[in-house]
Amino acid sequence: MASVYVTRMLPPEPLDALRRCHAVEINPHDRALTREELLREVRGRDAVITLLTDTIDGPVLDAAGPRCRIFANYAVGFDNFDVDAATARGVILTNTPGVLDEATATHAWALLLSAARRIPETDRFLRSGAWTGWGPLQFLGRDVDRTTLGVAGLGRIGKAFAAKARAFDMRVIYHDLRPSPDFERACGATFVDKATLLRESDFLSLHLPLLPSTRHFIGAAELAAMKPTAVLVNTGRGPLVDEKALVAALRDGVIWGAGLDVFEEEPRLAPGLEALDNVVIVPHTASATFRTRQAMGMTAVDNVLRVLAGDPPLTCVNPAVLR
Ligand code: DGY
Repeated sequence: MASVYVTRMLPPEPLDALRRCHAVEINPHDRALTREELLREVRGRDAVITLLTDTIDGPVLDAAGPRCRIFANYAVGFDNFDVDAATARGVILTNTPGVLDEATATHAWALLLSAARRIPETDRFLRSGAWTGWGPLQFLGRDVDRTTLGVAGLGRIGKAFAAKARAFDMRVIYHDLRPSPDFERACGATFVDKATLLRESDFLSLHLPLLPSTRHFIGAAELAAMKPTAVLVNTGRGPLVDEKALVAALRDGVIWGAGLDVFEEEPRLAPGLEALDNVVIVPHTASATFRTRQAMGMTAVDNVLRVLAGDPPLTCVNPAVLR
């Protein structure tokens, strides 16, 4: 039996599958491990299942030691991994692509619709007891039907998100490193450059990975290039957006609204963000459905079971180590 550490309690089914084969230890706290705890707990393990909040870098890999063959992220994003450091040490890194596309895409739509139709703001208003009755000019929002939807990043989640635009008869434009002719044929989407995406989107949703090249993909200049009636949605990673610039843009009416699942310095929010009524904010819950979180756990566990059995993992992010 190998020794597997799990840095936070996961849904029971994947943990049971892991326990049937290996000795499993789980962080007993209902919080992320501190850096010191992480360095201590990984020591001497054969495999570790990690969260997006665990920074896995050279010191952590060294603390785990030469027995450790895999760090399996319970997330599709893996910007918490120092991929080069792991590859240099021959350690396999995995993520959970595919199983959370629909949940995340649906959540991006929920944020888009909530911001467009001011759902949380009007919910707060009604609960406050301030409503005196129906009024023709109360809480007017933005139409979604037959507008232009912009998608930044046409990976699996971006595609799942864009495909749902059909329900609203929207024109879909997208930007990525390269066009996707198959998707264009299937969904009637059009590839555009970044300037066109910013200028023409009524709703702009971010589905990019966080890389040095995508950090602050949306900053003050990009916000100024958007329509004053536009809504920005981010379910990718917080640092894709310069959050301070977004607070200023929302406050000054540079854009009309935003829906955010992710933040630059989670769990902290940029000063002033929570006071704005024209932003919908939720605590990084885009993949938080029962079915999706269980599937993410099964993917992470399958990767660990395969690697410990001497097989290649299903979803490796540093395939160079397998060669
Ligand atoms: C991920 O998987 O990267 C999300 O941010 C959490 O599900």
